[in-house]
Parts: sequence; structure tokens; C-alpha cells
Amino acid sequence: MIPNSFIQDLLARIDIVDVVERHVPLRKAGANYSACCPFHSEKSPSFTVSPAKQFYHCFGCGAHGSAIGFLMQHTGIGFIEAVEELATKVGMQVPHEHRADRAAGASRAPLSEIMAQAAHFYKEQLKAAPKAIDYLKQRGLTGEIAARYGLGYAPGEWQGLQRIFQDYDHPDLAECGLVIANDQGRRYDRFRDRIMFPILDQRGNVIGFGGRVIDQGEPKYLNSPETPLFEKGRELYGLSQARKAVHDNGSIIVVEGYMDVVGLAQLGVENVVASLGTATTGMHIQKLFKQANRVVFCFDRDKAGDKAAWRAMDVSLEYLADDKTLEILQMPGGQDPDEFIREHGKPAFLHHADHATKLSEFMVRTLENRTNPTSAEGRAQLVHEAKPLLQKISAPILRTQIAQAIARLAQLSLADIEAECGLKPLQRRRFATPASRHRPTPSSIEYKLLEIVLHRPEWAARLPLELIDARRPEGEVIVQIADAITHGELPAGGLGVILEFFRNTPFEPLIAAIAAPLAGQNEIDPSALEGVLNDAVERLRETALSQEIEQLTLRAKHGLTSEEKRRLTELLTKKQLAARAKQAKNTSP
Ligand code: UTP
Ligand code: MN
Repeated sequence: MIPNSFIQDLLARIDIVDVVERHVPLRKAGANYSACCPFHSEKSPSFTVSPAKQFYHCFGCGAHGSAIGFLMQHTGIGFIEAVEELATKVGMQVPHEHRADRAAGASRAPLSEIMAQAAHFYKEQLKAAPKAIDYLKQRGLTGEIAARYGLGYAPGEWQGLQRIFQDYDHPDLAECGLVIANDQGRRYDRFRDRIMFPILDQRGNVIGFGGRVIDQGEPKYLNSPETPLFEKGRELYGLSQARKAVHDNGSIIVVEGYMDVVGLAQLGVENVVASLGTATTGMHIQKLFKQANRVVFCFDRDKAGDKAAWRAMDVSLEYLADDKTLEILQMPGGQDPDEFIREHGKPAFLHHADHATKLSEFMVRTLENRTNPTSAEGRAQLVHEAKPLLQKISAPILRTQIAQAIARLAQLSLADIEAECGLKPLQRRRFATPASRHRPTPSSIEYKLLEIVLHRPEWAARLPLELIDARRPEGEVIVQIADAITHGELPAGGLGVILEFFRNTPFEPLIAAIAAPLAGQNEIDPSALEGVLNDAVERLRETALSQEIEQLTLRAKHGLTSEEKRRLTELLTKKQLAARAKQAKNTSP
């Protein structure tokens, strides 16, 4: 967790125009900057960056956000990584809650530099190693693909890296896993006489290596150990190279091996990553769903493959959404994807990928095979095993669909399954009451006020908050902004700051809906805006007044206390005075 206050400070220090400019050339257009949108293809520029609001928006595809959001969307990195990258640029240190993370952040720069130098060295060595080149050729790889994936060769020497690292004893070389010390403290290269696959993070920095023996030998693959740069359960091999194809394709294929990734890419299937020889983790799933809504896991069709597929399905359940699907592809014929595509070609591979087994089908079929619901006992066992899985599924509609399939097999009703598993039936979800569950009403006064507040957040604290209906989401957002400003948690800084403040809250879509069109607008004359604000506040007061009068009048039928009578008279006078003042204002020149 990064404290919100840090995010606000960071956004105050950076300028979204600089951040975007590093990736997209911008042209000045009035108070704003514009460009052809980097997120969809277009001929005339509808992408706008507003320095005043620290916000970007594309009128073509609707992409929008803060500087942090831009980096995430443009480079595909996560929130924390985006914050770290921006912080580094302005020399700020990201405060993390975990000590381990801090250590990682602190030592990141020098280690990644060492890794980059090593990758360069291995690449150079490959050019001078005919045996390694022959091996890659024999596996069907061209120089182009080898270059695209930065493949290299670690020479068969004990201290090959000494050629580029004069200080071969430097502790950093061991810390990043390139060098190992034996019992006598003598140091030697971890990777010797191996084909080298550099593992990149999402920014393209080398964070680890996989090394394959040429032909025979044990182990077949040697990997970098976990280091401050490299956490296996987080990383996906080939993501950096696959990103564009994944984006174009809308789906991402996950395979088991390095060679599967490069082998598929060689034959033109480029939206592929590998999970680095570890079992699928929740971190992987989150990362994958950030890249694409459809994730296809490829596994061998054997016992181990079945187990791995089940695990991938299991860990994905809590990250599913009704528009995010996971599929399982079990390669036929006992081949891995690399062998398959080499023998049968790209169309055959794509055909299988297109017909991969959907998660729902995989789950229900596996459960059915496992429990054999032809007897009462089998059906009971089926529900028993389905229960923890159903409870984990975070996609409400898909969960209901799967529950229905289980109900059919178990010869029970959907309601029975939902009750037994403690699942919330679909339609009942609507009755939840917090403001966040209500729909915003664009015709409400609060909505109007929120539009103004997003122009001028500092005005929120001046509003008569007691009159704002906080049961409306738009009302609650105003109250939260005012509150944060009063407590010094929300410095001035425009829309970008507000957007980050509400990241991952139920209010995100509401803010986005109002904020997006604001980016391209020219700055509204503050006095005109103030006029609109005053009108809205007046309407707010009038409404509150009328409502209270109405309530008291209703109750007057059953008699009012003397205090209530006094109040009613006061309110009626107030209303009269307000009406007269309004009339005077409208008739004055
Ligand atoms: P495989 O044994 O399936 O190898 O390992 P492969 O990908 O088909 O490789 P080729 O085609 O023989 O060259 C799959 C993945 O498991 C990890 C690696 O990440 C490998 O890519 N692995 C395998 C290891 O880490 N160490 C090993 O010794 C073997
Ligand atoms: Mn293989």
C-alpha cells in the first residue's frame, strides 16, 4: 500500500504534459495539448491533455485519466510500478508498508544496470558462437526472432563475466544471481555454455535469465534465483514483446516454456507469454487480466497438465469478471505448443486456441468426472466440492451460470445451491443501500454541484454540506472531497488528483463520466462558474426549505408542538423573503 498522501504529493510534483510527451508527441491547441490517440488508431487528433486539470481524455475512444493512469494504460504496467516510475523521475522515494519492498526499491537501479550489461554481453557472445547459432537454427528460429527476444549465449567459461565486470567480486553480481560463490568462497558464473533467454519486466528492463543447455545436460533449464529484481510468481516471460499483439488481439495465451513463446512467435503467434516454470499465482492472473479480457492457458494433456490447469482455474476465480474469461487449451498429441505449431502450422494452432475449453465447462466437467453424480452420494459430493469454488467466483453472472449447471447435475434447484453455498442471488444485489450502490442522477442538484466541484475542487469545502443528499453517490463524492480538503488530504492539483483519490472506489465511474468531457473544454470564466455554483446552492437551499415546510405542514394535521409551530413560521417567512429577493434580482437591470 502506498499512502494516498504520497500519491497526491507526487501528482503535485509532476506535470502530465511531460509524462505524456515522453510517449506521445503533443501539439499545443489553445490551453490544452492534443495528439492522435495512442490507444486507438485515428487520423485526426482527438486525444487531449489538459495541464490545468492534469488530466487526459480521448474523445474518440473515451480513454482518460491522470498521469499515473496514462503510464499504466500506455505501458501496461501496474499502479505501483507507475507510481514508482514517476517518483524516480522527480527524485521522490515511494513509502511502502513492507520492508522487503523498500529494500527492493532502494537497490533497484544499480542491479538492473548490471543485468542489462550481462544481457548485452550474452548477446554479443552468441554472434561468436557457431554452435549456439546452429542450435537455434536447428530449432527453427531466425536471427530476427532471436534479436526480438534478446537471445544470447553464456560462454562455457567459469568466469566469463569477468570480461565485462572488472570488479568480479562485487556483492551486487551475486545479489542479482549472475555469480555464485563455492564453499571456499571462490566465485564463478551461474550460467555457462547455455542459450540465454533474458526475462524482462514490463518496462523492458532485464530482471532475470533462463539458460538452456545446448542439446543434452542437466538441468535442462537453469533460471535466475529470486532476487530483489526478480520474483518468479509475478513475472511473465515475453510480456514486453507480446504487448502489442495482445492489445490488437484482445486475448493472451499463456504457455509453459521459453521455447514455446519464441517458437510460437517465430510462426506468427505473438500474443504469448510463459509462466517461468512456476505454478500460476493470483499475481499472474491479475497481471494477465490487465492485459486482456480473454486469457488462454496452454497445458500439456497429461496428469501434470491437468493439475496445472486446475490450479490456474482455481486461483483465477476471485479475479474473474463477467467480461473477463479464462480458457484452458490442452494440446493434442502429447506435444507442447512449440512442437505442435512446428508440425501442424499456425492455422491449426489458432484453430485449437479458438476452441479452447471455457473455464465454466472445464470446472463443471472436471467436477462431474471426479464425483460421478449418478448416485445420491455422488451428487452430494459434487455440491460439496463445488461449494468453495462457487464461493470464490467474483463474476456474479458467470457464478450464477455455473451454479445452475451444478444444480442441474445435482438434481437440485438453483435456489438450493445458492442457499447451500451462501451465494447472493443475482436480483437481490440491487437492494444493497450504501450511496455507492445507487445510480447517479444527472438531473439532481448534487450532480450539477459535482460538475462544478470537479472544475474547482477547492469550492467543495464552501458548500452547505448539511443540505447535500449524501445518499446520492454524487452527493457523497462532494462530501468526501470537502472532507478531504478540510483535513488537508487533498491538495489543489486539478482533476488528476481527484481521480487518483477515488481510484478503486465505487465512485470511479461516476467521476470519470463527469470528468472525461471536461478535459477538452477551455477554462470556464471563474466568475461565470461561480454564478452557476451560487444558483445551484440557492436551489439546494430552496429545496431543503420546501421539503421541511412540506413535512411540517403534513404533520400539522395531527398537531404541532409550539417549537415546531415557531419553526414553521420561521421557515415560511424565510421562503417569502427568498422569493422576494429573487424577484428583485430578476427585475433589476
Ligand atoms: P519443458 O521441459 O517442457 O521444456 O519445460 P520446453 O519448454 O519444452 O523446452 P525445450 O523445448 O525442450 O527446449 C518448460 C519450462 O519449465 C521450466 C522452464 O521455464 C521451461 O521453459 N523448466 C524446465 C525449468 O525451469 N528447469 C528445467 O530443468 C526444466
Ligand atoms: Mn519444447
